[in-house]
Amino acid sequence: MEHNLNQGLLDKLTKVCICKGIPRSSIKAAIKNGANTIEAVQKATGAGSGSCGGKRCTSKIQELLIQQKAGE
Ligand code: FES
Repeated sequence: MEHNLNQGLLDKLTKVCICKGIPRSSIKAAIKNGANTIEAVQKATGAGSGSCGGKRCTSKIQELLIQQKAGE
């Protein structure tokens, strides 16, 4: 329980897309809501459309997609 709480808090505080300030919690929520490709997650959250063009966040999104799929 405490672990889940901390994880949820960390997810809110950790920015996956630094350019756009998109937290990990938003990426996870998008994946849960059916976004199952990098493009779909980017479209749903706006991640990847910042000044770096997704260079810094695309691999992190990919990792979360793999993790989420592995957890199903
Ligand atoms: S970190 Fe996501 S677009 Fe730059």
